[in-house]
Amino acid sequence: MSARVGVLISGRGSNMEALINACADPAFPARIVTVVSNRPDAAGLDKARQADIPAHVFDHKAFPGREAFEAALTGHLEAQGVDLVCLAGFMRLLTPGFVEHWRDRLVNIHPSLLPSFKGLDTHERALAAGVRFHGCSVHLVRADMDAGPLLVQAALAVHPDDTPDTLGRRVLALEHQAYPLALRLLAEGRVRVEGERAVITGGTVPEMAVLNPAGLSGE
Ligand code: GRF
Repeated sequence: MSARVGVLISGRGSNMEALINACADPAFPARIVTVVSNRPDAAGLDKARQADIPAHVFDHKAFPGREAFEAALTGHLEAQGVDLVCLAGFMRLLTPGFVEHWRDRLVNIHPSLLPSFKGLDTHERALAAGVRFHGCSVHLVRADMDAGPLLVQAALAVHPDDTPDTLGRRVLALEHQAYPLALRLLAEGRVRVEGERAVITGGTVPEMAVLNPAGLSGE
C-alpha cells in the first residue's frame, strides 16, 4: 500500500513537481493526494492540476489567526487520509501544536546543509561566509525553524565565481533528487527516530572525501 501524501506550497512548486514526477512511477511507495497553497497566486497550483492532482487554496489571510488556519489545514489533510505532509517552499511558520500533531510525519526541504544557514537567503549567506561546500537538507519538522532529524542531505562544491543565482540553481537541482529520496525512505518505513537523529535502515553511504579547492599542491 502506498503512503498518502499532502504537499504544502506557497510559490513556484518545483520541489512539488519533483515529488509528483517520482510518484508517477508505479513502483514508488507514495502518491500525492492533495496539494495545498496558502497563496492563491502560487504557480505550483496549476502545475499540480496539470498533473491531475487536486490543488486547493487555504489563504491564511482569510482566517482569524494561525490556529484557525492550521485547524482547517489539518482537517483537510485528515479528510484526505494523508499519512505524510511535505512542505515544499511553504512560507508560513507553523505553530508547535501543528508540528506536534504531525510529529515524524511532517517533512521539510531547506536549501542549505543544516544546521548551517537556517532561515532565508541561504545562498547569499553561504557565499558571504566563504564556505567551500553547500547543498540542501530534507528533515523531519520540529517546532524550531529549520530544525529536526535529518533524513537526506546533498552537497556540492562552491565555485569561486558562483553568484547566489548560479549556486541556487545547482542546489535546486540537488533538492529535486533529495526530496523524492527522503519521501521514499519514509514511505518505505525505513526511518527510525532516535532522539534528534533519524536512523535510516538499509542504505549505503558513499565513500567520499573531497577537497575544495582541488588540484593544487598539497592534495
Ligand atoms: C526551495 O529552495 C526549498 O528548499 C525552499 O523553498 C524553495 C522552494 O522552491 N524551502 P519550489 O517552490 O519548490 O520551486
